[in-house]
Amino acid sequence: SNRIMLGPLVAAIDQGTSSTRFLVFNARTAELLSHHQVEIKQSFPKEGWVEEDPKEILQSVYECMDRTCEKLTQLNIDISNIKAIGVTNQRETTLVWDKETGEPLYNAIVWLDLRTQSTVERLINKTPGRNKNHLKHKTGLPISTYFSAVKLRWLMDNVTEVHEAVLSHRAMFGTVDSWLIWCLTGGKKGGVHCTDVTNASRTMLFNIHTMDWDPDLCKYFDIPMEILPKVRSSSEIYGLMKSGSLTGVPISGCLGDQSAALVGQMCFQDGQAKNTYGTGCFLLRNTGSKPVMSDHGLLTTVAYKLGRDKPPCYALEGSVAIAGAVVRWLKDNLGIIQTSSELEKLAAGVGTSYGCYFVPAFSGLYAPYWEPSARGIICGLTQFTNRSHLAFAALEAVCFQTREILDAMNQDSGIPLNQLQVDGGMTSNRLLMQLQADILCIPVVKPSMPETTALGAAMAAGAAEGVSVWSLNPEDLTEVTSEKFEPQINPEESEFRYARWKKAVQRAMNWET
Ligand code: G3P
Repeated sequence: SNRIMLGPLVAAIDQGTSSTRFLVFNARTAELLSHHQVEIKQSFPKEGWVEEDPKEILQSVYECMDRTCEKLTQLNIDISNIKAIGVTNQRETTLVWDKETGEPLYNAIVWLDLRTQSTVERLINKTPGRNKNHLKHKTGLPISTYFSAVKLRWLMDNVTEVHEAVLSHRAMFGTVDSWLIWCLTGGKKGGVHCTDVTNASRTMLFNIHTMDWDPDLCKYFDIPMEILPKVRSSSEIYGLMKSGSLTGVPISGCLGDQSAALVGQMCFQDGQAKNTYGTGCFLLRNTGSKPVMSDHGLLTTVAYKLGRDKPPCYALEGSVAIAGAVVRWLKDNLGIIQTSSELEKLAAGVGTSYGCYFVPAFSGLYAPYWEPSARGIICGLTQFTNRSHLAFAALEAVCFQTREILDAMNQDSGIPLNQLQVDGGMTSNRLLMQLQADILCIPVVKPSMPETTALGAAMAAGAAEGVSVWSLNPEDLTEVTSEKFEPQINPEESEFRYARWKKAVQRAMNWET
């Protein structure tokens, strides 16, 4: 048959909280050629607990790969042109498996999980002056349920299989990137146990200055260093695919999903920023070669290190736990919509929340508050309020939370952003994008190719030494087009609504006291 000549292709595995994707790009033009997506089940075994099945996650990756390869073959595109695979993933989610059997020893504890709330409170109470920022000078992070170390501690304390595997030197710890790379490169038969600097920087065991695991942090959480993966850069060959349709292809890019989106949006300059609307919502601003510590509740994190001999680049991050997750909640828990896409129509039908405010603090509140005991509230209801107003309030909640982290970001850097670059699943909701511009009072700019997270991982993989089919020069990607949403309401109206939102947040914050 007539094969289409495209030159080298580069692929990405995008393993997010809600779904897994496999995507293939043309390494010259960054054009997305084909992809496949599979939803991931979440289980909530107890109030506040969120788990996923590590084997289902792995299977979903193989399924997406196989289906994408089939689609490419149908398009007459030769899959042997795929020269590299990048991995990008939901961050912090914690796994432990047995290196001899290859079996996971418990479900993956998802980043949103709150089971470590009491551990976190105990740790904070032990610090001088009850300071949640006690470890921030090394990690860039507050002590919180969000990061991997407390989840790993919980597994070691509460799961006999994990405890025993640690004692008998059979345990391996990893975030989702490590689990996938280990399995894909051979698993118990010689799989590579590694992670990259961006994922490592979310564990609370990693020193963002020395760029390695920190023995004192490991002692603090009482975690044996031998169970940790080897830390590598975000762009180098980690190993080769050992099975499936792409056997033999190098895995040569690895970045936490928020870092990958920063790369995919070409935010390579100090001061450039992006906001990604996924399950949660994450605004990252590149701060260049220096880690900048926030005075306004933001995290300091490793943005990327694109090659073994390249310097690291850092970012300030505002993390919001619940964004897309509120849509899933309205669908699965309240049943007021049947599909996520119905939400926009429902909310647009009324175009206002009629004074209803919805603070979806399901997992406590992240940035800038870091309050694990906050809980969700819906307030300002009247006889008149209906599900459309609630839908509108849910979308507004995403926008207000972004406004809070943008304000913190502007205060920390002193240089306000004059527009916001966005991406992620929810950005297909045009009402949300317009609301976001209205609430921020600055334009919101969305690239026409929304899969920037995958693009970033694919770029890192394609640029790795020994692969080198992709240059990371933003000028080479002249095809990038975007759409701009300008603010349409007056700033006083916007401020009024934002002030009300902040009052609602205060009520959510003090819920348990
Ligand atoms: O820190 C968690 C984040 O990496 C998850 O991203 O896109 O699955 O909401 P997402």
